[in-house]
Amino acid sequence: MKFKPADKIQDLQYFGEFGGVNPSISDSSTYTFLSAKTMFDTFEGNAEGCYLYSRHTTPSNLYLGEALAAMEGTETANVAASGMGAITPTILQFCQAGDHIISSRTIYGGTYAFLKNFTPRMGIDTSFVDITKLDVVEAAITSKTKIIFCECVSNPLLEIADIAALAKIAKKHGLQLLVDNTFSPLTISPAKLGADVVLHSLTKFINGSSDTMGGVVCGSQELIDSLRNVNDGACMLLGASMDSLRAASILKNMRTLHIRMKQHSHNALFLAEKFEADGLKTVYPGLKSHPGHTLYKSMMNEEYGFGGMLTVDVGSLEKANELMELMQQRNLGYLAVSLGFYKTLFSAPGTSTSSEIPEEEQVEMGLTDGLIRFSIGLDNDIARTYKMMRQCMVEVGVL
Ligand SMILES: Cc1ncc(COP(=O)(O)O)c(C=O)c1O
Repeated sequence: MKFKPADKIQDLQYFGEFGGVNPSISDSSTYTFLSAKTMFDTFEGNAEGCYLYSRHTTPSNLYLGEALAAMEGTETANVAASGMGAITPTILQFCQAGDHIISSRTIYGGTYAFLKNFTPRMGIDTSFVDITKLDVVEAAITSKTKIIFCECVSNPLLEIADIAALAKIAKKHGLQLLVDNTFSPLTISPAKLGADVVLHSLTKFINGSSDTMGGVVCGSQELIDSLRNVNDGACMLLGASMDSLRAASILKNMRTLHIRMKQHSHNALFLAEKFEADGLKTVYPGLKSHPGHTLYKSMMNEEYGFGGMLTVDVGSLEKANELMELMQQRNLGYLAVSLGFYKTLFSAPGTSTSSEIPEEEQVEMGLTDGLIRFSIGLDNDIARTYKMMRQCMVEVGVL
């Protein structure tokens, strides 16, 4: 039977502490124990259902984690204070000095910077590869390799990773496949395609209102237990834990994720087709011209479409900046980083979210100066939006 992630969210049922339709929020940083023995057992990791301290976990965080695990079809999950707060401890939990990582070269700039500049200080090296070339990925594996890291739909180039094929390679060599699914929640279910770990920045589509940071690592019970372990768990010890009030609000926003994703995708496809027909260099996985289009179709949960992210190359940074400023003036969206908001957000990744990637590497991977990344909003009348965007493009001389 086909995996249906939105049904998993719909089927969650809560009776709050006082019968509320929402779980009661646990607004405590520490928890009482009725006996000293139970406290000892909890520290030893043996007291199921007991809470000890909120950096470890909280009832509200568990509710959100379990909802996300249901959505991704993993055994369980652990939420964190940000996407990076989930990604970095997970990588560190798997790797130690002397180990090696294979990563897609087109990933979010922060993750890239962590692997390129930070983990080498701990003796962990990363090979950055073109993740769409499976032979290159396999050839990069050494006896020291522990994990393969990629994004389903990469930030910002929107390259598509073949999760099932990568999972096969990982299994064959005894590696873990870690997949960041931030750009394609609901649309792609990486764990169902064989990924071992699924990560998200909840800051983006999943929360969807640009009012909080959040992250999650979805995986096996064994992994999540190890991340929370009081003695050597990277989530517990590095401390990027989510606040309970935020966990409760993200859980509530998740309930409309399926409706929002459909509208983001509908609007993005509409604009991508129009921009491409206008002769603009447009990248969107829903376009037949996208090299990963067929692959994406083969992986996707179809009803959610091809996602809300698209890029347009307008030739130069000057033109990109001019266009973005004008679009903001005309109230078509905000010149801002991040994604998943109800209004369109646009930025030039080469000088913002991917500026951590050195210029020569940006050129090599095809990240051009004139590239604008759009996170398309929930506009009810996208034809009107298109008309106004087109007018801006004509005025700045891009069309
Ligand atoms: C694909 C992807 N992963 C991870 C992150 C990091 O998430 P956060 O900013 O919530 O730490 C981002 C943020 O832009 C992202 O785009």
